[in-house]
Amino acid sequence: MSDIPLPLPLEDSWSDVLGKAVRGTGIDEKNLAPSANIIPSQLKTIMGGERPSEDTLRRLAIAVGLNPGPFLDLAYGRYKPKAFEASRWPGVAQIPTRYLDMVVNSYLVWDTKTREAALFDTGTDMAPIRHAVEKNNLKLTTLCITHTHADHVAVLDDVMAMYKPKLYAPKGEPVPNATLIEEGAEIRIGPLRTTTLLTDGHSPGHITYVVSGQEGWPAPVGLVGDAIFAGSMGGGAVSYPRLRKNVQGKILVLPAATLLCPGHGPTTTVEEELQHNPFA
Ligand SMILES: [Fe+2]
Repeated sequence: MSDIPLPLPLEDSWSDVLGKAVRGTGIDEKNLAPSANIIPSQLKTIMGGERPSEDTLRRLAIAVGLNPGPFLDLAYGRYKPKAFEASRWPGVAQIPTRYLDMVVNSYLVWDTKTREAALFDTGTDMAPIRHAVEKNNLKLTTLCITHTHADHVAVLDDVMAMYKPKLYAPKGEPVPNATLIEEGAEIRIGPLRTTTLLTDGHSPGHITYVVSGQEGWPAPVGLVGDAIFAGSMGGGAVSYPRLRKNVQGKILVLPAATLLCPGHGPTTTVEEELQHNPFA
């Protein structure tokens, strides 16, 4: 059906993570080199993606405020994300689609009894959405948008035309005909309860949706968009400190077994990210 190889690899390399931290903290290379005790010419090659010794990388991580243990595990290939266990999470499906040279995820979450379903973001292609809806015999009644970056809403109009779902979008990133939401909204997917968190920083109004109430789930399911990724987080284009604070103070305080469903890369859990995320 899809030519995208699964499971998805980690979204960010150590070099991507370092770049996000350097840009986010706003430290310029002139100040970073001495504070990490690195000569400026070596810093240039590291920022260009050449991996230095573990000691050097540790000093650099500390200088830009990354958790050094998880960062070094990522850099030296010691962190392997756990595979998604579909049998533990009935009624959850990841739908990866291509956007330019990237892969973006949308997710279907449904009540396994009534088959009522919500789509979280649209990705870029209707075909796998229709396939998943039909294969699982679902009624798609709800569309929730985490943020309005083009890759996440590329087929929004087509989804609306085909299924006529109730549409929810962030108040900080309004979409025509949507119910606009902030933190603490309540959305129902049949008997499943969904609450919302404002996780801005990657984008101005970014919303995380937290779904609970499915029989058999060990914990809630967090649809986190581009707030947090397995082993990384979204870019802090609007505010790196706000994004990191939201990741730490709102997402990583959810129950440890909470499934996190990011807009890019593989699914993960709160517990895994507390151990392995350099931004945690
Ligand atoms: Fe985004």
